Amino acid sequence: MRMRYLAPFVLSAFFLASCGGSDNSSEKKDTSASSSNEAPVDNSMVKQGAAEAAASKGAGLIAQSDCLTCHKVDMKVVGPAYKEVAAKYEPTDANIAMLADKIISGGSGHWGEVPMQAHPNVTKEDATEMVKYILSLK
Ligand code: HEC
Repeated sequence: MRMRYLAPFVLSAFFLASCGGSDNSSEKKDTSASSSNEAPVDNSMVKQGAAEAAASKGAGLIAQSDCLTCHKVDMKVVGPAYKEVAAKYEPTDANIAMLADKIISGGSGHWGEVPMQAHPNVTKEDATEMVKYILSLK
């Protein structure tokens, strides 16, 4: 009984596999087309992945500094959630430089009354890494 039911399946699977060569390749094209549809997403992931090497450096720097006292990734504490910061600013060079300067010299008025204190000990390079990490958190 089982075999009788299975046989057509096995056979058709076999036929599909053998005769459907061209079908298969068009199917493959389809899947690659659909995955290339997702490519913008994937690419951004890759870009972020590329930035992630730097980003994880930024994450480490943030962990070593006092940032996490006032910032969490996805929750407002004293300062805005890093995800909110990421949502607000495009990761352009200008924004990265501007935010890096802000970390060093402090800032206020963008998220509320509470100012962020200055971090004169943070170098511009480190601050840039931190910002790259923060803006990768979308
Ligand atoms: C004493 C609390 C505190 C600490 C510590 C702190 N921040 Fe902030 N941060 C804030 C507050 C408050 C704001 C919002 C300032 C504003 O409204 O412009 C802010 C804003 C920011 C912004 C967004 C600036 C803008 O203009 O939108 C970034 C980026 C940021 N902080 C990164 C950091 C990093 C990186 C560190 C660690 C080096 C750090 N913060 C440490 C309180 C803090």
